[in-house]
Amino acid sequence: MIIAVDGPAASGKGTIARALASHYRLPYLDTGLLYRAVAANVARHDLDPAIEADAVAACDFDEALLDDPALRDDETGKRASIVSAHPLVRAALFHRQRRFANQPGGAVLDGRDIGTVIAPEADAKLFVKATPTIRARRRHSELRERGSNVSMDKVLADIRARDLRDSMRSSAPLVAANDAALLDTSFLSIEAALKRAIELVERQVKLK
Ligand code: DC
Repeated sequence: MIIAVDGPAASGKGTIARALASHYRLPYLDTGLLYRAVAANVARHDLDPAIEADAVAACDFDEALLDDPALRDDETGKRASIVSAHPLVRAALFHRQRRFANQPGGAVLDGRDIGTVIAPEADAKLFVKATPTIRARRRHSELRERGSNVSMDKVLADIRARDLRDSMRSSAPLVAANDAALLDTSFLSIEAALKRAIELVERQVKLK
């Protein structure tokens, strides 16, 4: 069984995808981490994320980089969103994601284009969303807990800028697949969102 979980930054898609993977005992891939690794490699080599050839050169990153906690920074997220707009970067990361999705027994992948490009044949597809203000509030308290004193206004502005960049790019933009089930987590607790996610997956798998 392949489960595709897509959605914007801080929508809750990572938490939901991880929980689905453990519920169904499936391997899980956070595909945003691959774009983040490219972004970090760009910075490490003093390259320009906006230049496609620079970003492509950074796709050949060291596997150990995937374990670096600095990949989760907002600055790396922003750079990841810039490198991910280049079609050749998406092409360079495509096969790795396809292979993961196609492993025997299946997998759960989360990202922006899993249900549309990476695994359009997925058995279940969720598109997880929440209002920008609520996503910013969640991200803000997460950053505060990590010791940052960034303002709520800045976090909200960053979220809006990232949504715009991820949705407006011509190559595999952030968009719900036609057959994805929408899950709005704006007013749901984590427990309620997970319960709903499992119900939606069960329903789609039964209809197959
Ligand atoms: O999910 P995330 O915040 O870790 O993703 C970081 C950036 O990577 C995101 O702004 C856009 C890009 N991304 C993508 O283009 N396609 C994916 N499947 C996953 C992430």
